[in-house]
Amino acid sequence: MVEPEHDLTEPAMRAHVLRKYGKSNTVLAFEERESPTLGPGEVRVDVEVAALNPVDLKTREGEPKMLLPFAPPLVLGCDLAGKVIAIGSDVTTLRVGDSVYAYAGMDRMGAFAEHVVLPADRVARRPAALSAEEAACLPLPGLCALAALDAGKVDKGSRVLVHGGVGGVGGIAVQLASQRGAEVFATVGTSDLERARAIGVSQPIDYRTQRFDDAARDMDFVFDTVGSDTLKRSWRVVKRGGVVASLHVPPPADQLVAAGLRAPWILRLLLPLITRGAYAGAAKAGARLVPILSVPSAAGLERIARAAESTTLRIAIDKVFPFDALGAAFDHLESGKARGRIVLKRG
Ligand SMILES: NC(=O)c1ccc[n+]([C@@H]2O[C@H](COP(=O)([O-])OP(=O)(O)OC[C@H]3O[C@@H](n4cnc5c(N)ncnc54)[C@H](OP(=O)(O)O)[C@@H]3O)[C@@H](O)[C@H]2O)c1
Repeated sequence: MVEPEHDLTEPAMRAHVLRKYGKSNTVLAFEERESPTLGPGEVRVDVEVAALNPVDLKTREGEPKMLLPFAPPLVLGCDLAGKVIAIGSDVTTLRVGDSVYAYAGMDRMGAFAEHVVLPADRVARRPAALSAEEAACLPLPGLCALAALDAGKVDKGSRVLVHGGVGGVGGIAVQLASQRGAEVFATVGTSDLERARAIGVSQPIDYRTQRFDDAARDMDFVFDTVGSDTLKRSWRVVKRGGVVASLHVPPPADQLVAAGLRAPWILRLLLPLITRGAYAGAAKAGARLVPILSVPSAAGLERIARAAESTTLRIAIDKVFPFDALGAAFDHLESGKARGRIVLKRG
């Protein structure tokens, strides 16, 4: 057994605690609590920067509550960059003092706190080429993008369409696909056409003025980060034998459970009904539908770090808020005005 490297007593920390689900920030409190207990195979990270994702807002409101293995009070937050300050027994991959980044996972969360304790296999050394702010924005979007591109076997010469091509997930997918040598089409808003070209899109399509199903054909792979009508029309542009990966089709119950989430009987009953239309669309198009679920993975983060170090990965940060200002950061996210990621940074 590998001995723990550091003092295992739980220091105090401040955390954004969700007291109950709700539509306003009054359900949040920034308060002192004990740092979570460190177990075998886990590391304690001093969080320098935490990044917001749309799912954090949805969780504040209780949208995914049926899936979560816990209820409020809970500490929100999925994505972070920071420094390892203690390691539990049996951790061999990381050391105290390492600069790391992580996706905590929906079955764990806890990034909106000064300390987070996570299994070491969810935490990786952060890319040296990126600042802590940039690195904190990468884990969840990067892991989803990687899973999607892998599912589509995207490679040199693949014809790829990414919906929401300058969004958090879409922007990383575009850059990773372009690094692999794919020809990248992407749907973006009118004011984002140049931004899309700058990150590797060869064919930007303005979703506000143009129907993408008139502008793209015979795609090997489509990544749907938008859902509803966008997914429905994607069957017209994917070629027979191609793949459509979607963030908006729930995965089968066994995948939810494997990711540490709950799949109660009512959900198991509803899932085939919710997903029937999407699978029917795939069958009619002769294509494969792959639901994408964000799953924590240090190995995935190491691949993303290598990608970030081999060429420049551009991470658009819209605004940096002080660490205690989660409410203001949520308001900004909710306004829909952000042109990039929103982060909380320790002073
Ligand atoms: N299943 C999972 O595990 C998982 C994981 C990550 C994310 N998600 C979900 O996936 C979605 C995207 O996440 P994100 O972090 O990438 O969000 P984001 O950073 O807000 O990006 C969304 C992007 O989609 C664009 N968009 C909106 N409507 C569009 C349309 N009709 N056609 C093309 N683009 C459109 C937006 O552009 P404008 O600025 O022009 O509106 C924006 O650039 C969210 O709903 C999130 O909750 C699911």
